[in-house]
Amino acid sequence: MAPSTLVVIAAVSGLALSAGLNAREFPGATVGRGFVSIPVSGQRRDSSNMLRKRADGFANVNINNLKTSGYTIEISVGTPPQALTVAVDTGSSELWVNPDCSKASRASNKTINGQIYITVDDTLSDPEQCRKRGEYDQSKSSSAKKATFNGQELKDNIIQYGDMTTVETAYVEDKFSIAGLQFDNQIFGVAKQSNGTGIGIMGFGPSAYGFENNVTYPLILTNMAKQKVINSPAFSLDLRDYDNSTGSLIFGGVDKKKYAGSLAKIPFKKLLTKYSTGEPFNSTSYYLTVKSMSLTLPNNSNKNIDAAPKDGFLVSLDCGAGDNVLPKGIATQICSGIGAETVPDSDNSCKIDCSYRSKPGGLKVSLEGKDIMVPWENLINEQEFASGNVCYVMVSDNMKFEAGILGAPFLRSVYAVFDWGNENLHIAQSADCGSHIVAIGSGVDAVPGGNGECSLAASTVARFGLAVGTALLTGLALL
Ligand SMILES: *[C@@H]1O[C@H](CO)[C@@H](O)[C@H](O)[C@H]1NC(C)=O
Ligand SMILES: *[C@@H]1O[C@H](CO)[C@@H](O)[C@H](O)[C@H]1NC(C)=O
Ligand SMILES: *[C@@H]1O[C@H](CO)[C@@H](O)[C@H](O)[C@H]1NC(C)=O
Ligand SMILES: *[C@@H]1O[C@H](CO)[C@@H](O)[C@H](O)[C@H]1NC(C)=O
Ligand SMILES: *[C@@H]1O[C@H](CO)[C@@H](O)[C@H](O)[C@H]1NC(C)=O
Ligand SMILES: *[C@@H]1O[C@H](CO)[C@@H](O)[C@H](O)[C@H]1NC(C)=O
Repeated sequence: MAPSTLVVIAAVSGLALSAGLNAREFPGATVGRGFVSIPVSGQRRDSSNMLRKRADGFANVNINNLKTSGYTIEISVGTPPQALTVAVDTGSSELWVNPDCSKASRASNKTINGQIYITVDDTLSDPEQCRKRGEYDQSKSSSAKKATFNGQELKDNIIQYGDMTTVETAYVEDKFSIAGLQFDNQIFGVAKQSNGTGIGIMGFGPSAYGFENNVTYPLILTNMAKQKVINSPAFSLDLRDYDNSTGSLIFGGVDKKKYAGSLAKIPFKKLLTKYSTGEPFNSTSYYLTVKSMSLTLPNNSNKNIDAAPKDGFLVSLDCGAGDNVLPKGIATQICSGIGAETVPDSDNSCKIDCSYRSKPGGLKVSLEGKDIMVPWENLINEQEFASGNVCYVMVSDNMKFEAGILGAPFLRSVYAVFDWGNENLHIAQSADCGSHIVAIGSGVDAVPGGNGECSLAASTVARFGLAVGTALLTGLALL
């Protein structure tokens, strides 16, 4: 396919939050025929504020209680446009704005090894940051309407997230603009009350009841496709480290210079679960099967994770999660495999010397038909504390649901195209060798095939730490 003519609106800026409300145009966006690429900003939690110890010294913290940072994008809503920052979430389906900032902080006291800590949640839950993210005022938008679906006005709703935060929303319909690309009649929630989160959430996942258009009101991707702003409901996600603003979200496009090797197509799975009535149903999310996992240790020896169930296990690809949540026993094996120390009261999360991040090797995650290498640097998060930096291995055994989660610490190693229309994921090892965005078409072969335009040397595999030309890289080239 011939590359579309690109119009670069502005140069890349720094973190979105550092810009004032008025300054928020659409820096770093690229618009082409059938797609729009917008920068995704990482929001790193401010750890100086995160953990205030009520005694001297330093001890372990329960990282599961401290949700890590997330990724945000800029949108504008209404006429005239009102600028808002929302968190990007592939683990949920609905878009809502106007969190209750006063209930944003999830401060709690935690006793660990006899010491009391006051934990304050991440930047996404910080009340002060919350107030800077913009607020949607329906009365100031001439295009705001009551939201209707199938001729009926939508009733208020309560959304509950996996971390127990809840939001009660009233639905509104209004005009949207994302990086200058406009579409009308988008239904979204305006919070009447919320707790635990300091930012509105843009869910990019399907409804739990299926990918079909008729199971819910038109969600953001289906609405954009319906209005032909994009050719089909699909997007690409390229996440970088939390403080690296070069990541992007492309509605309707794929950047062939952001991955290496094949972009493997894997059909999404369903999860057989139950309604509260006990009646079974196949629920929908971006579910995939992890067939196996293994560690490549710094001395290049391999270690299989035996705890993985024989036929693999189901995970949801959730960029809103700061952790990888795995079936019982797996986190323990990963931690003990690399000599990391378990954090008490933490669902087998563990910490390790920060120097491990730059060592060769990492975690190999085998999906159906595709192996992904997660270098230590991406799996291990470094947190700054007054007493020094602490590095956590972002795995936990805290699987509360029938499926696990591969969160941001996994997604940062991949280029992922979510093809909602065909219910497939296309996944490759992420890389960075420039930009060449091609539009996603429509129909069964909507997502452009072929290998990425980067060499493996420019990819996250190289950060797996092994020299180009070794057996591993030669083997990977065949994947
Ligand atoms: C934490 O403990 C302090 C002192 O005991 C108390 O004043 C405060 O309300 C507690 N905070 C939370 C969030 O539980
Ligand atoms: C939010 O409120 C709901 C309902 O009142 C409650 O069940 C939930 O535990 C609260 N969550 C947090 C994080 O405070
Ligand atoms: C939704 O559409 C699918 C086919 O696209 C159909 O099988 C299903 O019965 C419809 N569901 C409802 C609730 O109308
Ligand atoms: C951001 O990520 C890209 C791609 O991995 C890398 O080339 C670049 O050096 C990173 N920038 C910073 C500031 O870390
Ligand atoms: C769930 O999906 C499986 C596989 O497609 C099917 O065999 C089963 O009948 C479905 N169960 C329900 C409750 O829909
Ligand atoms: C590699 O390192 C692991 C863990 O330190 C050790 O158990 C193993 O024996 C080493 N293998 C080789 C071949 O040196």
